[in-house]
Amino acid sequence: MATEQNPHAILFPYPLQGHVIPAVNLAINLASRGFTITFVNTKSIHHKTTQANNNNNVHAANGEADDIFAAVRGSGLDIRYATVSDGLPVEYDRSLNDEQFTGAMVYVMAAHVEELVAKMVKCSVPPVSCLIVDTFFVWGSAIAKKYGLLCASFWTEPALVYTLYYHMDLLIKNGHFASHDNRKDPIDYIPGVKTIEPKDLMSYLQEDDATTLVHQLIFAAFNDVRGADFVLCNTVHDLEPQVIEALQCYKPFYAIGPILPRGFTNNATVATSLWAESDCTQWLNSKPHGSVLYASFGSYAHITKWALWEIANGLLLSDVSFIWVLRPDVVSSNDLDPLPVGFKEAVRGRGMIIHWCSQQQVLTHPAIGGFLTHCGWNSILESIWCEVPLLCFPLFTDQFTNRKLVVDDWKVGINLSDNQRLVNKEEVLKNVNRFMEENLRNQLKATMGEIKKYLENALGPGGSCDKNMDCFVNNFNAKAKISSAAIN
Ligand SMILES: *[C@@H]1O[C@H](CO)[C@@H](O)[C@H](O)[C@H]1NC(C)=O
Ligand SMILES: *[C@@H]1O[C@H](CO)[C@@H](O)[C@H](O)[C@H]1NC(C)=O
Repeated sequence: MATEQNPHAILFPYPLQGHVIPAVNLAINLASRGFTITFVNTKSIHHKTTQANNNNNVHAANGEADDIFAAVRGSGLDIRYATVSDGLPVEYDRSLNDEQFTGAMVYVMAAHVEELVAKMVKCSVPPVSCLIVDTFFVWGSAIAKKYGLLCASFWTEPALVYTLYYHMDLLIKNGHFASHDNRKDPIDYIPGVKTIEPKDLMSYLQEDDATTLVHQLIFAAFNDVRGADFVLCNTVHDLEPQVIEALQCYKPFYAIGPILPRGFTNNATVATSLWAESDCTQWLNSKPHGSVLYASFGSYAHITKWALWEIANGLLLSDVSFIWVLRPDVVSSNDLDPLPVGFKEAVRGRGMIIHWCSQQQVLTHPAIGGFLTHCGWNSILESIWCEVPLLCFPLFTDQFTNRKLVVDDWKVGINLSDNQRLVNKEEVLKNVNRFMEENLRNQLKATMGEIKKYLENALGPGGSCDKNMDCFVNNFNAKAKISSAAIN
């Protein structure tokens, strides 16, 4: 039951699949601690999710397709749902027009958000006390301040990536970023980071031209986050202790991860997929334990046709069984069937090619032996949780930095290729075979078991998830009391 005392947070996930999923689970977590949450998807994400779920037939029968939280609502959680325009028409192809999408994020969406916030501040019960906004939004703390609200920034990538962005000024000052000829020697002056090589920085920080729209977005977002009251990060304290402790010098920074999709730890799932899911269970049931490679490049990154062909031809030369998730737009929504002609027929029986699936359902299946991944952070956490070793082919953004954590630091995966921006079929063949071969896989799996313990401990009784979440809620309530006293 909502009472006058419940803190009410409006939660804005960044409109990409990999950001919406942890935000949904954050919403459930906070609601179970007495928060009223209004979860705000963009109209475009809402449209895609409900379309995909109608295809999946999840809630269509009982007319609940419009309420993505229907599955958990029964438990008494006060999670409300609203939508907001991102400034572009609902059906606009954001994947094909990435520049325009980024432009809308930087320059247009704030006006729509502000309109919604203004309305809710006026008439919501319980009254709105806080915005929880994905760190990549450029307007979070600015809008919160304007309406006298607290602001918690939600970071869905490793703390290492956050600190690198947060300290871009140091990278620029030292000539490692945004200079005509970026320095290539190791970087040893970022708080909490002993040393990192420029090739392991996020792709945007490896570019010479720092004036693109994405750069404008990153600069503005990391300027805005300086005004936030709290940062909530989907990482585990014991995975990145030095970075987290260094970041806590600036403002309260809470490692509340791993925020795993609820299905991993609890059966009540909220439908979040943007594409209809294929069910691979029967096919997997017919394969020996640990024999199948699961390949997915996530929900957003594009792969060049040329790299896709090299990977396809490498898989063709191997005799490994595989499930390959290829979104319709994985190369471009202009190229809906990018595989080499005859590939599907040539791998029939041992290769299953699908548009999308429940990653949780696949990763938890005993037939899965490894995960060829673009190194998205959710995929990494999920794979560690399921003890599935990683074969890494990062494509852009934080994926290069995440690869370093997986391969170089934690040793729970290997590289697909020596040069991470190039790949050829011989290398794919060699590394896929090596990776799926029992010796190496068992070794990686054993190390993964060790890393998984950090996640288990974090989620267990008295673990860092609960502890840091409690700490956030207590500090939040204290601060909310002070600011409401100041207003009255
Ligand atoms: C979750 O589902 C599995 C199989 O569908 C069942 O065995 C288990 O009891 C369920 N767990 C909970 C907490 O409902
Ligand atoms: C993996 O690739 C990265 C980037 O190209 C490289 O720095 C690293 O040494 C490679 N690691 C191994 C074990 O080959």
